[in-house]
Amino acid sequence: MQLSTRHLLGIKDLTPGDISIILNTASQFKEVLQRPIKKVPSLRDITIINLFFENSTRTRISFELAEKRLSADVINFTASASSVSKGETLLDTVNNILSMKVDMVVMRHSASGAPHFLAQHIPASIINAGDGINEHPTQALLDALSISEKIGKLKGTKVAIIGDIMHSRVAQSNIYLLKKMGAEVTVCGPPTLIPKYISKALKVEVSYDLKETLEWCDVANVLRIQLERQNQVLFSSLREYSLAYGISRRLLDDLKKDIVVMHPGPINRGVELDSDVADSKHSIILQQVENGVAVRMAVLFLLSGGRNPSDN
Ligand code: CP
Repeated sequence: MQLSTRHLLGIKDLTPGDISIILNTASQFKEVLQRPIKKVPSLRDITIINLFFENSTRTRISFELAEKRLSADVINFTASASSVSKGETLLDTVNNILSMKVDMVVMRHSASGAPHFLAQHIPASIINAGDGINEHPTQALLDALSISEKIGKLKGTKVAIIGDIMHSRVAQSNIYLLKKMGAEVTVCGPPTLIPKYISKALKVEVSYDLKETLEWCDVANVLRIQLERQNQVLFSSLREYSLAYGISRRLLDDLKKDIVVMHPGPINRGVELDSDVADSKHSIILQQVENGVAVRMAVLFLLSGGRNPSDN
């Protein structure tokens, strides 16, 4: 069980075999996380820095917990409280940290490609915890584990990714992963929030009709409207967006079947998802968060050269 890469920069670089190894390893770590003592010694003597240049709740806590469950030494870095605010470059910052004998870097950055740049210049393994509008690979992996657990398979499963596709690293990583694993993917949203050539470039179907898309899919992965990444007005108002593309209880009740609802968080309740959908039996949002810890344990374990979690 060995990955074909020493970094996790994006799902784009992974083989279907890599994805299967990570998901299988995550399932084994889920079993570890059910034990009374949830800590294993796999990463003892490994030091990991969590470099967050952008805000995060789920990803940051999940990585820190995964690292601690694996007995790694953990350092947390917040850009706003660092010498970055005095003008220090990304490379200088990271090289200074690595000189203190840090082995692995988990990084979130608002610039697409920041972890790829770092990977060309430093010796440590890098895990991308979300870079700009490019990729969020561990989110796609935890989404895939959640779909596999709920539906029983990825191959042939019909997944709709709904909302702000244009600005979403979650959408891009999910599309790469789902297509590599044989799922069917449709992206759905207003034309202004769907990249023009996505159907040809990423081999997905495109729909502007929410009801039709929900009738088609087994799983609806609903995305947040990312106002912080939009530098122009791309729809008339949040209220109108919600009327056309928000998922309400009534919409789900009118479908001829049950579907699974996912969301990577944070949710804009009442915009892309109503509360009585987010908190309903259709929703697996909190299972996604739970699976994040096991998936991140698997990625850290495998990139550090680990082979068999059940040896722990
Ligand atoms: N899903 C996700 O990346 O959430 P955070 O921004 O809170 O980490």
